[in-house]
Amino acid sequence: HVETTLHCTTQQDVKHLLKPRKRFSHKGLYGHALLLCGGYGKMGAAMLAAHACLRSGVGLLTIQAPPVGYSVLQTAVPEAMTLVDKNRKHLSELPQGIEKYDVIGTGPGLGTEKVTQTAIGQLLATSTQPLVIDADAINIIASSDRLKSQIPKHSVIFTPHPKEFERLVGKAQNDYDRLERMKEFCHKHACYITLKGNNTAIGTPDGNIYFNTTGNSGMATGGTGDVLTGIITAFVAQNYSLEEACRLGVYVHGLAGDLALNTVGEISMIASDVIDHLPKALLSLQ
Ligand code: APR
Ligand code: MG
Repeated sequence: HVETTLHCTTQQDVKHLLKPRKRFSHKGLYGHALLLCGGYGKMGAAMLAAHACLRSGVGLLTIQAPPVGYSVLQTAVPEAMTLVDKNRKHLSELPQGIEKYDVIGTGPGLGTEKVTQTAIGQLLATSTQPLVIDADAINIIASSDRLKSQIPKHSVIFTPHPKEFERLVGKAQNDYDRLERMKEFCHKHACYITLKGNNTAIGTPDGNIYFNTTGNSGMATGGTGDVLTGIITAFVAQNYSLEEACRLGVYVHGLAGDLALNTVGEISMIASDVIDHLPKALLSLQ
């Protein structure tokens, strides 16, 4: 059994956590992230995660995508490098030399094809760097006890929405029970979970739970979750601890959504608006 400690992440906390860039810095200091995202009909998810990752300060970004997504990514995200999977439509393999990446973000737009399940299994079994695991990558792991037992300890952040959370961690009786289950899962697998929603809750292996204080219901629109995956991946790449990356990422994501209220409002807000307001959000914290 682990003791629970509840916290709120405030603007003061985040200002304190955020590190200024060094004057004589170069991109190598800010990490090289790999995104394994996107698939047939869902390349937008990869694009959103990639743009958000770049706007959140990553040094270098590589995306591996199936051939159907190659030209769209090269056009829409010129700042990123693109690797091509051998499977025409879906993630089916890990790139050569995967050790060189500082962090891997995966899940958005993947689909749950057999070949993708195999690739996610290989990722869990072989990766040495931190992993940010979202969406269909969560669904794939949740559906297999073997994969669950292979979650590498102390190096995984899961970012489920409530349905994905339920698949991964189990059905809860009520909100209190949900947090108890989150705490036990984080402890058992020595992992981090950001349980998304209004007041996203972050669980850590040692029993801390951090509630977020930013965000609004304009963000209840397809793609905002993919944006969060990109943001958290960028913070891990920049060498923040996994706990810091979750807290910073979730706070900044919500703050960008709050700033977007002024220009587009709750009703019209789309995920790209959240990305467009990331610079303002980050500027306001420096
Ligand atoms: N208040 C604050 N934040 C909110 C609110 C709200 N009312 N509603 C949503 N959000 C935030 C969440 O905290 C989360 O960060 O928006 C994001 C939504 O993320 P997801 O639920 O993962 O949505 P998204 O992934 O963009 O949806 C597209 O991907 O994960 C799959 O099954 C999912 O089909 C869906 C698709
Ligand atoms: Mg999602």
